[in-house]
Amino acid sequence: MIVVLNNKSNFTPEEFKSYLEKLEKIDYSELILCPTFINLALAGDKIELGAQDVSPYDDGAHTGEISAKQLKTLGVKYSLVGHSERREFESEEELLNEIKKLFENDMIPILCVGESKEERENNKVEEVLDKELYNVINNLSREEQEKLIIAYEPVWSIGTGAIPTNDEIREVLRYIKNLLPNTKVLYGGSANEENIDTLKEIEEIDGYLLGGISLDIDRLQALLDKLS
Ligand code: PGA
Repeated sequence: MIVVLNNKSNFTPEEFKSYLEKLEKIDYSELILCPTFINLALAGDKIELGAQDVSPYDDGAHTGEISAKQLKTLGVKYSLVGHSERREFESEEELLNEIKKLFENDMIPILCVGESKEERENNKVEEVLDKELYNVINNLSREEQEKLIIAYEPVWSIGTGAIPTNDEIREVLRYIKNLLPNTKVLYGGSANEENIDTLKEIEEIDGYLLGGISLDIDRLQALLDKLS
């Protein structure tokens, strides 16, 4: 089961080094670490690496952007795309270009999708998923669709401690898998060492995207122990 660690904008290089030392002692084969950009170059090659974002452009005159090709030179194999904390700054076209650039460089996009509280309350979950997924589905080859990883992250669940019921998660994952039958789908949003036993009952989940708990090695270890 894939476990993606999204450190978000945390850890100075100094803090990251001691975090990494502890993380490397964890015996779990399918970890993907997404540190903040400045720490990517410090991460070594013991753990698979992902970026938290990637430029929709090739190298060139794009101030502040980091291209897929540049990330690849650091051993980065994955990148989050469209995380809800970034989506408002990015158009659907830019997201698609980010995905394309990753594939061109033999890297794997982890595309985040999910509804807001208001959208859930107004029964708009499927509408949101269609909007977030169709542009991608229509513009990727079947082979690319199968390499892509989707992370279902209800926006109202990220960092809040609130998570959907198992039935609600199951319903969304089935909907996604119906559109993309051979694509891996992760769950993200307040997953932790306490609720993992309940989440584990959902057979459709292929892995987890962890934010807050990725920063605390002891809690992370407790969660991974329950997954192994
Ligand atoms: P969380 O974050 O685990 O802190 O809710 C998940 C994410 O934003 O990817």
